[in-house]
Amino acid sequence: MMRRLAQLCLLTGALWAGLALAAADTPPGFALSSAHPDATAAGVEILEAGGNAFDAAVAVSAALAVVEPTGSGMGGGGFWLLHLADTGRQVMVDGREEAPSAATATLYQNDAGEVVPQLSRDGALAAAIPGQPAALVHLAKEYGRLPLARSLAPAIRLARDGFPVDGPLLARLAYRFQALAKSPAAARVFLPDGGLPAPDSLIRQPDLADMLERLAREGRDGFYTGEYARRLVDGVRAAGGIWRMEDLARYQVREREPITLELDGLRLVSASPPSSGGVVLSQVMQVLSLTEALSRPPVDRKHLVIEALRTAYRDRAAWLGDPDHVDMPITRLTSAEYAAEIAAEIDLEQARRSADLAPPQQLYADRPNTTHFSIIDAEGNRVAATLSINLSFGSAYMVPGTGILLNDEMDDFSAKPGVPNAYGLVGTQANAVGPGRRPLSSMTPTFVETGDRVAVLGTPGGSRIITMVLLGVLATLDGADAQTIVSAPRYHHQYLPDAVYYEPGAFTEAEQAELEARGFTLRSAGREYGNFHAVLWNTADHQLDAAADPRGIGTAAVRLAPAAESP
Ligand code: DON
Repeated sequence: MMRRLAQLCLLTGALWAGLALAAADTPPGFALSSAHPDATAAGVEILEAGGNAFDAAVAVSAALAVVEPTGSGMGGGGFWLLHLADTGRQVMVDGREEAPSAATATLYQNDAGEVVPQLSRDGALAAAIPGQPAALVHLAKEYGRLPLARSLAPAIRLARDGFPVDGPLLARLAYRFQALAKSPAAARVFLPDGGLPAPDSLIRQPDLADMLERLAREGRDGFYTGEYARRLVDGVRAAGGIWRMEDLARYQVREREPITLELDGLRLVSASPPSSGGVVLSQVMQVLSLTEALSRPPVDRKHLVIEALRTAYRDRAAWLGDPDHVDMPITRLTSAEYAAEIAAEIDLEQARRSADLAPPQQLYADRPNTTHFSIIDAEGNRVAATLSINLSFGSAYMVPGTGILLNDEMDDFSAKPGVPNAYGLVGTQANAVGPGRRPLSSMTPTFVETGDRVAVLGTPGGSRIITMVLLGVLATLDGADAQTIVSAPRYHHQYLPDAVYYEPGAFTEAEQAELEARGFTLRSAGREYGNFHAVLWNTADHQLDAAADPRGIGTAAVRLAPAAESP
């Protein structure tokens, strides 16, 4: 029997007064959190040298490209969500990769029309045109205070002098060994003498150092045109890829309005298409509000979260893609009316079933890759950035003489309607491969603003990114500190496969039994996942708080401005 669920709570004036007050204030210093200690140190160096959060974002992005080559890089792309303290403007810098002009909807299918997954995952054909070099130049020029060369300096040092091989890097080198070994340039950097490097031995990337210096000197043209671009195109084509010089030349960073939701005294600012993150979060948060999920017992809250996700991921699969190529019903998908229709479908006594569009697929073993960092500077500028080359080491193909490990972001397209990608995600024509299109992403850099807190959140994790950020938003609303937000055990549902995947500890035994009794299929994820980075500014008590996910090796830093330290 359907239980009647409650009405939408309305925005209260009192909380908004708090938000206005918060905007006029400044933080007591700066705080940041990233997935690698050397990248966090690069950000600290630039902020202490007088850079703002945007300069620090350039430094952290470039450093991660060097020291966390599994996750993101100059051969990849990402979304940088910005908050400009002086005007309050919020914008998403879209540096997502773009399909080359020769890409067609059936590029990753064989003659029989079957999808060949390897083609969009390993090697040069899997690579889309990178966006990160253009995005870093754009960030420095439009928003930074320091010269690009200064912000890139820590990364250039790390690439030239080398950095020690850490445990997670070694594990992922072993995991992607076969694919990397096929690329002589990648093998020269990462597989000395054809084998795995010794722990703590130095990885030096002189070609990448040269490339970063060239970018500092020549700006975007140093990557996208001329002799360096020729080297990239020749290398890609020699390895079976389809890039052309004009694909690089026409690549442009796009500035997009973020998805914003104002609800119950909360303001959520998140990634807009070509990311699906903000649309899914906005829909889910409204369904949770209508069903009063946050004030219910934990097991009911989890039930409602899973049901809201089921519909939102179904809509993701059905509708979303590149906003420059596809008309999407974003207004309806994020409307209060639609959320009310979804809420009315949910029965707190019985799980629903996802439509059986495709046989249940095992989720791809998504080894940690992609990366997220969060920054707030002492003026109140903010950056939430999620960057990627897709799977670990991207396509595992390094273009000879460039230092660039190419992404395999083409796998984020739907290679054929209904056929799952590496993350088990399905899609329609809305996310088909096509020339110049940007593949639909799950990356969800997000700001949460309540009357007394500002949170800068995000994580890698493929299709699970959106659910992790959602749980982070809910924990922020519960008043959790940064460490609790990044550490909390996670659970996930993405419509198909029709199962709830959970980390150890996400459900109590009683909750597990109850959810199963209500008809949910629960499956252990078998391990921990994600690498969440959170920075919190408690505007009410003037405190900064930051934390890096204990599942990774990243670090957080909080530095109070001298004035704030004196009594
Ligand atoms: O843009 C996306 O949604 C994916 N390329 C992100 C990949 C990712 O997070 C992998 N992490 N495990």
